[in-house]
Amino acid sequence: MRSLLEDAAERGIRYLETLNARPVAPDQRATKNLHLLDEALPDQPTDPLSNLKLLDELVSPATMAMAGGRFFGFVIGGSLPVSVAANWLAGAWDQNTGLYNPTPGTAHLEQVALRWLLDILRLPPGCAGSFVTGATVANFTALAAARHEVLKRVGWNVESDGLFAAPEITVVVGEEAHPTLIKSLGMLGLGRNRVIMVPVDDQGRMRAERLPSLTAPAIVCMQVGNVNSGAIDPINDIISHAHKHGAWVHVDGAFGLWAAAAPSLTHLVNGVSEADSWATDAHKWLNVPFDCGLAFVRYPEALGASMSVRAEYLPTDTEHRNPSDFVPELSRRARGVEVWAALRTLGRAGVAELIERTCRHARRFAEGLSRAGYNVLNDVILNQVLVSFGNTETTNHIIEEIQEDGTCWCGGTVWQGKTAMRISVSSWATTDEDVERSLEAMIRIAAVRTRKRTK
Ligand SMILES: Cc1ncc(COP(=O)(O)O)c(C=O)c1O
Repeated sequence: MRSLLEDAAERGIRYLETLNARPVAPDQRATKNLHLLDEALPDQPTDPLSNLKLLDELVSPATMAMAGGRFFGFVIGGSLPVSVAANWLAGAWDQNTGLYNPTPGTAHLEQVALRWLLDILRLPPGCAGSFVTGATVANFTALAAARHEVLKRVGWNVESDGLFAAPEITVVVGEEAHPTLIKSLGMLGLGRNRVIMVPVDDQGRMRAERLPSLTAPAIVCMQVGNVNSGAIDPINDIISHAHKHGAWVHVDGAFGLWAAAAPSLTHLVNGVSEADSWATDAHKWLNVPFDCGLAFVRYPEALGASMSVRAEYLPTDTEHRNPSDFVPELSRRARGVEVWAALRTLGRAGVAELIERTCRHARRFAEGLSRAGYNVLNDVILNQVLVSFGNTETTNHIIEEIQEDGTCWCGGTVWQGKTAMRISVSSWATTDEDVERSLEAMIRIAAVRTRKRTK
């Protein structure tokens, strides 16, 4: 066992140490070689050391360098070294952290991490919280609590009696709501299409003056951090309108909620703690390994009612928090371990510095690209930059060439009808030098293509 685990650690360390020297996109030859994995299931046991070697030789080069400093696709953080280390240790512990009694160490750690999260995100200290797989499931979890509570207030028990004859819940979302929020509403029986969609402005912010009049039971879903522009819905206008009419306010803050942790950005999310539930990710801006999402709910009883489970064989009786009372799963890995390690290592100041540094990098990208003559489409208030290099064809070609060049990796999108390249700076590993190298590559590639077009 020792030689196997040491070999794995050695390979993991070598991978991370050499990541910045290789192209960010997976090696094309390595991707082609993946067919070598398509063999029949062996009938007999095989040697674990040689299997690890095979994994490293075939799969490592076919990975995207998401853990490196020049990956700017989607909204993807890297992994702080301490969070990788804690993840390895927690993997060795192999704790099924559903219940406190059998796994007190990791269950306790989650309780501490949860308290710290509420503190650093400036949310009410009495909230219940869940460690789940990502913001998609965090949205689902928090909205299940919302569904419970708004129906309970009108005398309906949705967990017992289902939705078929229940009072209708009005659900309001912005036109720019993330598709996974809509998917969560579908999974909860609230419908992907029966929602009321509120129009947005040029940054993707919900136009609060267009909110419909509401009567309970109702849920309003707000967004803090648009996946493309980083824009934040008008928090106070939405919450006061919704609460005046007895609606529950849910916040999808997959990355944007972390603005609360940085003194220079806190003003952007003033008032967000007045909402009723929140979803965010730790695998994005806190830079812990995949996967780790977080849900917080103001009313612990509502979350417990929608998620808790009892069985004779399960030792659920305890004065402590049973993690599975707050998540969709019973069996689960101890996601709080890496969160605890990241928060304790960075401290309040380190988290603030990480958030502020990545936003500074985003501003530098925006400034460099606009100075080079390209059109930055969004107000860069957080870590997201949208740039157009001209028409759809030109922009798509340039994105493709940037990906092939390998200095950095950015994806594309269509923002309010215009094709754009997305730059999301979410990794602790991105340095000033990474930004300058990437900017140089983007401008070099774009200049060739745009000159070609004008000839
Ligand atoms: C606003 C928003 N909500 C939800 C999600 C989904 O998050 P996850 O992929 O962690 O489930 C994202 C992903 O980028 C997002 O930006």
